[in-house]
Amino acid sequence: MDAFVIQGGRRLRGRTRVHGSKNAALPLLTAALLTDEPLLVDDVPDLSDVRNLLRLLESLGCRCSRRAGEDDRAGRLELQVVDETADRADYEIVRTMRATFNVLGPLLARRGRAVISRPGGCNIGDRPVDLHLHGFRALGAEIHSGEGYIHAQAPASGRLQGARIFLGGPFGPTVTGTANVMSAATLAEGRTVIDSAACEPEIVDLANLLNAMGARISGAGTPSVTIDGVEALGGARHTVIPDRIEAGTLMIAAAITNGDVILENCPLEELTAFLTCLDAVGVQWELVDEAGDKADASSDSPDSRSQCVRVASQRRLSPAAITTQPHPGFPTDLQAQMMALLAVADGNSVITEKIFPDRFLHVAEMLRMGANLVRNGPAVLISGVRHLIGAPVMASDLRASAGLVLAGLGATGTTTVNRVYHIDRGYEKMERTLAELGAEIERVEGD
Ligand code: EPZ
Repeated sequence: MDAFVIQGGRRLRGRTRVHGSKNAALPLLTAALLTDEPLLVDDVPDLSDVRNLLRLLESLGCRCSRRAGEDDRAGRLELQVVDETADRADYEIVRTMRATFNVLGPLLARRGRAVISRPGGCNIGDRPVDLHLHGFRALGAEIHSGEGYIHAQAPASGRLQGARIFLGGPFGPTVTGTANVMSAATLAEGRTVIDSAACEPEIVDLANLLNAMGARISGAGTPSVTIDGVEALGGARHTVIPDRIEAGTLMIAAAITNGDVILENCPLEELTAFLTCLDAVGVQWELVDEAGDKADASSDSPDSRSQCVRVASQRRLSPAAITTQPHPGFPTDLQAQMMALLAVADGNSVITEKIFPDRFLHVAEMLRMGANLVRNGPAVLISGVRHLIGAPVMASDLRASAGLVLAGLGATGTTTVNRVYHIDRGYEKMERTLAELGAEIERVEGD
């Protein structure tokens, strides 16, 4: 298992490009199962999660090929279903990554049946799929489970039936549940309305692709999404939106090292809650043009989602109180990274985790680095220290691992982050990106 060895204290400087979003790309790729025409998806990040999903799609009769994009980072995928007889997603693949569960909706809608392994839990908590199944039952599917598998069957007519569905759960909307049910509803007979739909940008990106394929979806990005079913969907070409979580992670990397970094392809308007926290903490950020000069915030760049932002921090940071919430609230996927920053801010901060109340495996590891953290149920109280001290730490899940890398960048001394396969799931060659910005970080091949 590979590790990252980081010599802390290097100020990050320079410019880098934010990759396409992992959490947008994964449901987008499952849309290939809704048609037998080709799907061309640009700017798909080269991640282990993406590779695992492609393996599953191949096993379901979808031919997948990757071509280099405009630069070696903007990967293009071409997908086309050539055989629609398979209907089973085995545990061996589904257990690697929860988003593989999102083939269920497209298979049910297009092939009328599916047998999918239940995704297990993971280090950030239980990962139930009851809301997904509730949505499919509302669309008329018969759902049975046994031996760890979900057996789903469309109605005898072969076609799902539109319905009004409440998809909210005890922790708010479900992102992949909304994507799964919305995808299935595109081929249902009649109108489907999803109430308490997730509003994440990744849902909007998926709806834009599905509409380009011929679907009739409105309201994506709001709590009420309407889908008028159609007979069939065709092929399309689509570019994945930038990864707002990678963008936030890199902004914190600049801040925690008192650096000065320009991020290209940065989806600022999808990060307003996060940026509000950066303002409170005292991190300077500003919109800049391609040349790096301050840009007029009102100017609508050709694609307002992908702007350039400059992030700097030369002074002590202030404390903050943060609560994670469904979008547009503060994203749970930036919670661990923000904890690393607040660990070296002045004063006392608090982070409350409302989406995955147990998403705190990074706390014990940051304590090893000298952070002053006290867990109190779904909250962690943080008393800022002057600086963290490098130490060997263990990655546990994707975003906790990113938080540990950020802590190591800002710490004094050497930090070894073990089991970085967690990071490879969601960040494309993170060590290369950080090294290009001046970090002293190297990947050490492990056993
Ligand atoms: C998506 O996971 C993201 N993954 C997660 O990012 C992200 O943390 C999460 O949304 C919340 O924003 C992808 O998009 C691939 P949920 P998802 O269903 O859809 C509960 C990362 O690091 N729930 O929105 O699986 C659930 O337990 C990953 O990139 C039910 O109760 O999350 C949680 O408490 C980690 N029943 C809350 O809802 C269900 O059927 C939100 O979960 C489904 C979910």
